[in-house]
Amino acid sequence: MQSERARFFAGEQWTGGVIGLGYVGLPLAVTMVQNGLKAIGFDRSPRRVEMLLQGVSPVEDVSDEELQAALDAGLRITADEAELSGSDAIFICVPSPLGRHREPDLSYIKSAAATVSAVVRPGMLVSLESTTYPGTTEDILVPAVQAAGLELDGDVFVAFSPERVSPGAEMKTGDIPKVVGGVSPVSTEVAAAAYSRVVAAVHPVSSARSAEMAKLLENTYRAVNIGLINEMAQLAHELDIDIWEVIDAAATKPFGFQAFYPGPGVGGHCIPLDPQFLAWRAKEANFAIRFIDLAEQVNTKMPGYTAARVADLLNRHGKPVFGTRILGVGIAYKPDVADDRESASIEVLRELQQRGAEISVLDPVVGAERIESHGFAAVPPDGPLDDYAVAVILTDHSVLDLARIAAEVPTVLDTRGAYRRCGTEPGNVEAL
Ligand SMILES: NC(=O)c1ccc[n+]([C@@H]2O[C@H](COP(=O)([O-])OP(=O)(O)OC[C@H]3O[C@@H](n4cnc5c(N)ncnc54)[C@H](O)[C@@H]3O)[C@@H](O)[C@H]2O)c1
Repeated sequence: MQSERARFFAGEQWTGGVIGLGYVGLPLAVTMVQNGLKAIGFDRSPRRVEMLLQGVSPVEDVSDEELQAALDAGLRITADEAELSGSDAIFICVPSPLGRHREPDLSYIKSAAATVSAVVRPGMLVSLESTTYPGTTEDILVPAVQAAGLELDGDVFVAFSPERVSPGAEMKTGDIPKVVGGVSPVSTEVAAAAYSRVVAAVHPVSSARSAEMAKLLENTYRAVNIGLINEMAQLAHELDIDIWEVIDAAATKPFGFQAFYPGPGVGGHCIPLDPQFLAWRAKEANFAIRFIDLAEQVNTKMPGYTAARVADLLNRHGKPVFGTRILGVGIAYKPDVADDRESASIEVLRELQQRGAEISVLDPVVGAERIESHGFAAVPPDGPLDDYAVAVILTDHSVLDLARIAAEVPTVLDTRGAYRRCGTEPGNVEAL
């Protein structure tokens, strides 16, 4: 039989508090309001709060119109953590980066846990959504609610539910099934009931640690397969075989094969980072986990390999890297997002810059300010391209005019298979 608190979350009009209003937290708060719940969003950055209150969304997945509609429907945005005490459930969506030595930096989660200690009250559900190593919810959140004098499962319920949203992708927060694991069976039940009001499907698991590890498995799977295909791409080039044709051919198998594609390296704040949480936890358990290290070795060498391929291409045209004008196309870590955090494009271009090339970047999605912050010249969307010796397609935003680039720049290295996907491969375009 469903517990009284699970019944409340499944049936009543409750209020969700969100800590951290970034790529994960803001869509979650807006989705709750869209689903008829109330929401209070807390962010410790006054600048972000001010921007959101003006109806300006900093993330692609929430348009300004959607944000304004949510504000009009009662979404509260605040920089005052005390307001969270009016919530029935609190969802923690703060960053979880790696430290200098690739160890988990839990400072944001700990600071959010301190907020929870200050505002938690009987009946509340507390759910951590930040990606982290298995055991974090038990290690940090359970003590935080107990420090407030509350009893687990009697007064308060604690769970982990990873966010799987992919910025810029078609599926949004509410459409993606949510894995939910409580620190106890009752906490799982209560958290699953709450999430069932926010997302289309909930997949409960037996513990918070399983949910934490599920997220890391998903992104380790991607990192390992990307590492595999990046190594295959290098081998195919050595053997003078077209890797893109090979992948397309293998992908015709109706079962047992999922296509991954090579590129200039892995970027963003998930694929390069998340496996490291698992590697760190494995090391702590004295367990040698080899696939993560191997994939990282291959993937982190891809920017250098890509830069070397650009140099080879120039060499074939009788040009040195030193003093040559090179056009980098796309500086975001993936297509159709304005996010350039941890982007492999930057590493490729920096490597060429260090060898003396003059680098300009065309990225109409990221924009001039960010491009220039990395020390590259920004090319306006319609700016002339005929002054570059080579263009390297690093991120294939859908707004890019690929035909114009190939028509105006003498030679192009396409690291994304972008021309092949468009069905036109001009003679001066070489794929990675
Ligand atoms: N961005 C993604 O695509 C994505 C996808 C899945 C999971 N995740 C994970 O979700 C978590 C959040 O990532 P994000 O991309 O939304 O981060 P983000 O940097 O976009 O946003 C985080 C927000 O939290 C605020 N913040 C930080 N510490 C705070 C605190 N103690 N109290 C209140 N606010 C605080 C920051 O000001 C910022 O606005 C991370 O663990 C990340 O790994 C991200």
